[in-house]
Amino acid sequence: MEVKRLTKLKNGLNGTIFVPGDKSISHRAVMFGAIAEGTTKITNFLQGEDCLNTIACFQKLGIKIEQNGNDVTVYGKGLQRLVEPTEVLDVGNSGTTIRLMLGILANASFHCTVIGDPSIGKRPMKRVTEPLRQMGAKIDGREDGQYTPLSIRGGNIKGIHYRSPVASAQVKSAVLLAGLQGEGVTTVTEPLQSRDHTERMLRTFGCCVTVDGLTVSLEGGQKLSAANIEVPGDISSAAFFLVAGAIVPNSKVVLKNVGLNPTRTGILDVLSQMGANLSIDNIRNEEFEPCGDITIETSQLRGIEVSGTLIPKLIDEIPILALLATQAEGTTVIKDAEELKVKETNRIDTVVNELKKLGAHIEATEDGMIVHGKTQLHGNVVNSHGDHRIGMMLGIASCIADGEVIIENSEAVAVSYPNFFEQLHMLQN
Ligand code: S3P
Repeated sequence: MEVKRLTKLKNGLNGTIFVPGDKSISHRAVMFGAIAEGTTKITNFLQGEDCLNTIACFQKLGIKIEQNGNDVTVYGKGLQRLVEPTEVLDVGNSGTTIRLMLGILANASFHCTVIGDPSIGKRPMKRVTEPLRQMGAKIDGREDGQYTPLSIRGGNIKGIHYRSPVASAQVKSAVLLAGLQGEGVTTVTEPLQSRDHTERMLRTFGCCVTVDGLTVSLEGGQKLSAANIEVPGDISSAAFFLVAGAIVPNSKVVLKNVGLNPTRTGILDVLSQMGANLSIDNIRNEEFEPCGDITIETSQLRGIEVSGTLIPKLIDEIPILALLATQAEGTTVIKDAEELKVKETNRIDTVVNELKKLGAHIEATEDGMIVHGKTQLHGNVVNSHGDHRIGMMLGIASCIADGEVIIENSEAVAVSYPNFFEQLHMLQN
C-alpha cells in the first residue's frame, strides 16, 4: 500500500498542464480498432491501468497491438475475427472494459472467462448480461450472471429494441456493439442521455448510427474501417484541477486540450452556476470530439442543487464536486445519483465518510448527498479505498486542509491518472 502525506499549500496553484487522454475514448479506440479492418493509429492514448487492461484483453483475443508511450497501433482484423483466448480475460478495475468487451464477445462463437479485481467483483453485470442474453449470447456467472467471474459463449446474435432501465453509456455501448455484429437492427433507448462516445466513434470508423432523442440505432453487419484517433484530454481528470484552481487561494490554472463533449461537461455547468471564474478558449474538433483550453481562477462559490439530466453528464465528477461544495457558501444538494453506489466503490459512502474525516459537514442521502459550506477542512488519515477518483479528491483536499492529510492506498490514482501527484506538485512551483 502506498501512502501520501500532504500539507496545505503556502502559495496557490499556478501554471499550465495537459491532462492525460480521455479514458472512455481510449478504451473505445482500442476496441473499435480491434474489430475494424486495417490499422488504427491512436495518439494521446491514456496509459492508465484501466486502458492498459483493455489492450491486454484484446491482445489475448488475438489482436496485435503495439504501444509506444501515448501512441498505440491496433492491427484490426474485422468483425468476427477474434480468437478464443487460452487464458482468462482480466479487466482489473475497469467497468468499461468488461461491459463493452462482453458486447463485442456476444457474437464470438467461442468461450471466454472474464474476471476483474475485488471492486469489479461487486459491480452489477446483469445490466449487460441480461440484454446480451436476450440477443442470443450464452452467459453464465456468479449469481446468475450478475457478478464476475463470468463466462460467455457468443454467436447468432439478433438485434433487439432494448429499453435500458439506467442511463449508462456502458450498457448502451455493449448492446450496440453486440448488435453491430448481429442480424437486423438494434435499438437502445435510455431514460436520460449518457455519454455518446460510442456513437461518435462508430461514425468515425465508417458505421452508420442513427440518433433520435434518447434512442440510438444501428444495422447489424456493418463493417468498420480503421481510423486515426486523436484522444482529447479527459475532462474527468481535468475536473480535479478545475476544482483545485477554484478553491485554493491565489490560484490560476490553465488546462490545455480538454475534451468538451456536451455529454461530459456537467462539471463546467456546475462550476459556472456556483460562481466559478472560468473561461474556455480555442474550441476545436467539434465533429469528432470537441476540445478546448480551460482557465480557472480562485473563486467565491455558492451552493446549488445538482440533479436530473445533469447527473449523467458529471457522474464521475461527483467526488470532486462534493469537495467543491465544502468550499461554497450555503447548501449543495446532490440528488438522482444512486448510480454512485455501483461505481469503483459505493461513492456515496466513500465520499461522505472520507470528507467527514477532514471535518466536512456532509451527509449521505438515498440518492446522493447534502453538503453545508463553507468549512475549513483539517488533516487526518484518509483512504482511497482503491478508488482512483476518491484518492485524487483527497489529494486536492490536502491543498486547503489545515495540518497533514495522510492518504492511504494513494496508488489507486494510476487507474486513470498515473502522473496526478506529479502534476499537482508541478503546479505548486
Ligand atoms: C463510462 C461510462 C460511465 C462512467 C465510466 C465510464 C464509459 O459509466 O461512469 O467511468 O466509458 O462508457 P456508466 O455507463 O455505467 O454510467
